[in-house]
Amino acid sequence: MMGKYWTAICQRALLALVLAPAPAAAMRGADGQNLPPSAIAEGRRIALSPRLGNCTACHAIAGTSADGNLGPALRDIRRLFPNKAALFAEIYDPTIMAPRTAMPPFGKYRILTSGQIQKLVDFLWTL
Ligand code: HEC
Repeated sequence: MMGKYWTAICQRALLALVLAPAPAAAMRGADGQNLPPSAIAEGRRIALSPRLGNCTACHAIAGTSADGNLGPALRDIRRLFPNKAALFAEIYDPTIMAPRTAMPPFGKYRILTSGQIQKLVDFLWTL
């Protein structure tokens, strides 16, 4: 009898957890598009990982201890790029805007997948 009672309580608690609204700020992309917070966290991980983006080798990144200084500090990204598509294009192939840049064309050379670049963009858009 106790067992049934507790099962019901636990089921309700679980349901409440599943249905609880996630924090609005984390859910809303800057374009008004809904983003799971996990996409932003994953983008951050890609940016900071030496084996993935290795962005930190050349960039300081706002809100992190990354302090690379070969390229400009990554902050206020939304002031520099009109939209996420433009930022995506910059990371996919920066040689289009700056033919002699030291920054690798992450998409064109298949260093990162388009999915990974999209998550990077979602993260950088929060800076
Ligand atoms: C080998 C060094 C290097 C690496 C690694 C690198 N970048 Fe860059 N990045 C640069 C340089 C240099 C520039 C300046 C563009 C130029 O050369 O004119 C730049 C420019 C940028 C810009 C434009 C910023 C602005 O203020 O105009 C963005 C955004 C950017 N990088 C993102 C990234 C991301 C995200 C990564 C990791 C996936 C990355 N970069 C990895 C060197 C690098």
